[in-house]
Amino acid sequence: MTPSPVRSQKLAGASVLVFGSPLAACRQAADHIARIIHGAEREGRSPALGLATGGTPVPLYARLVELHRAGELSLQKAVSFNLDEYYPISPLDPRSYRHYMHQHLFRHVDLPANRAHVLDGTVPDGFTVQHCAEFDGWIEAAGGLDVQLLGIGRNGHIGFNEPCDLPARDMMALPSRRVPLHAITLEDAARDFGGDMRLVPREALTMGVKPILASRSILMLAFGARKADIVARALKGPVISEVPASLLQSIPGRVTWLLDEEAASRL
Ligand code: PGA
Repeated sequence: MTPSPVRSQKLAGASVLVFGSPLAACRQAADHIARIIHGAEREGRSPALGLATGGTPVPLYARLVELHRAGELSLQKAVSFNLDEYYPISPLDPRSYRHYMHQHLFRHVDLPANRAHVLDGTVPDGFTVQHCAEFDGWIEAAGGLDVQLLGIGRNGHIGFNEPCDLPARDMMALPSRRVPLHAITLEDAARDFGGDMRLVPREALTMGVKPILASRSILMLAFGARKADIVARALKGPVISEVPASLLQSIPGRVTWLLDEEAASRL
């Protein structure tokens, strides 16, 4: 059974659902994604899924795999687009996001390999601009995203769209592109690189803010006390590029935040 939130509220145009545990929130999000996939199936079209990596959505992928194994979910007709990838990095590197997706989802389900798009951390230096533009073209060719899964960085980033000083309107128009990583992102990523920040790639390829905001629905997951401050700034603060997740306030009615009590503690 899909777990119910312990409470819910509307805030800044978003639905905010608070759950008793990260597991319950992830289960709710996975079941929501499964419903989107089934709905698209009934309409005879391919569901387009925007996927995320990081520690937060691990139980969500476990639930999708469980549904698949139970014969209740097929990704055969789906197409997926991941938010981001380090640059440069090999897909065989266990710290790459392509590897993460393979471990947690792709190798367990029937999503065809040529429909699972992850920005390529091996694209030669001079071709990253072209590659990112192609990535945006593929999302458009898929008819846009039915759902985008998001996590939030401690600095408010979505994907690797890091805090910056652009006017909010300009940041909302940013396409997928190559970016330098923010100091807080490097610090948090160090745990995947043996605790050594110097080993984290300095750059990444990220889906842009524009294609993220164009998604027909967004599920934002955040858990734990370390996210409480930035969750409150994103939902209750002004819409500013210094807090990229605050830009989600500009698409009322399309964003659902799924939080645990700790992440919701400053709302
Ligand atoms: P996390 O990362 O899920 O590992 O906390 C979230 C993010 O930085 O977007």
